[in-house]
Amino acid sequence: MDRNPGKIVVLTGAGVSAESGLGTFRDKGGVWTRYDLNEVATPEGFRRDPNKVHDFYNARRRNAAGAKPNAAHAALARLERDYPGEVVVITQNVDSLHEAAGTAAIHMHGRLDRATCASCGAGWDAPMEMHAADPCPVCSEPSTRPDVVWFGEVPHALDEIAGHLDAAAVFAAIGTSGQVHPAAGFVSEARRAGARTIEINLAPSEISDLFHERIEGPATQSVPLWVERLLSA
Ligand code: APR
Repeated sequence: MDRNPGKIVVLTGAGVSAESGLGTFRDKGGVWTRYDLNEVATPEGFRRDPNKVHDFYNARRRNAAGAKPNAAHAALARLERDYPGEVVVITQNVDSLHEAAGTAAIHMHGRLDRATCASCGAGWDAPMEMHAADPCPVCSEPSTRPDVVWFGEVPHALDEIAGHLDAAAVFAAIGTSGQVHPAAGFVSEARRAGARTIEINLAPSEISDLFHERIEGPATQSVPLWVERLLSA
């Protein structure tokens, strides 16, 4: 093990939760092949038909509630626990499988299990079912919404994430198609900071060429292998 273990920054996407039974967005049969994202994942869609948006997230919340973390989530929790340097996990996912495996991830696109008020900004643990008429528990306005970042909204913690990327010795992107910014640009920021970059994915992504290295295969096999290699280095 290197005496001066550098900081490892990990970005995960839907592919890390695929083998837990949660759908990805752009693979065959993915979420965006079945729903129009403009209707269910934009502020305009929410203004037009808030109950359609709530129904979409109620279904995803029910689906996610029954999911269990898989070997990839467990391997990242092991890395965080056993690696002598700092490990930061940033996720685009709104499920809580990293937390269920023991990792406190930075949820840049929010979380399905949290709700917020569009009027006063209050936040609370989301009930399984949310409806447009639900009054905010703080200001009583009927303006509750999932605490999820929609297209056209600013993702969370971007300054904190920029600081992590700037200090990364290793940057790994796991199970993401690299089609949505700003997450798709993190690999370039990490490279500029001198990080060694690795993509772990079932198949080549839009941004594969930006990585120094790739491990191809299902996350439940490739992530444990990668973690074992890091911990036995
Ligand atoms: N193991 C590893 N990678 C996998 C697996 C698997 N078992 N299954 C699928 N993948 C990979 C696919 O090859 C693809 O590159 O996961 C990626 C899934 O890509 P997307 O469906 O586009 O998901 P993601 O990259 O997380 O989307 C980013 O877009 O819709 C928005 O906010 C949403 O956070 C999401 C963002």
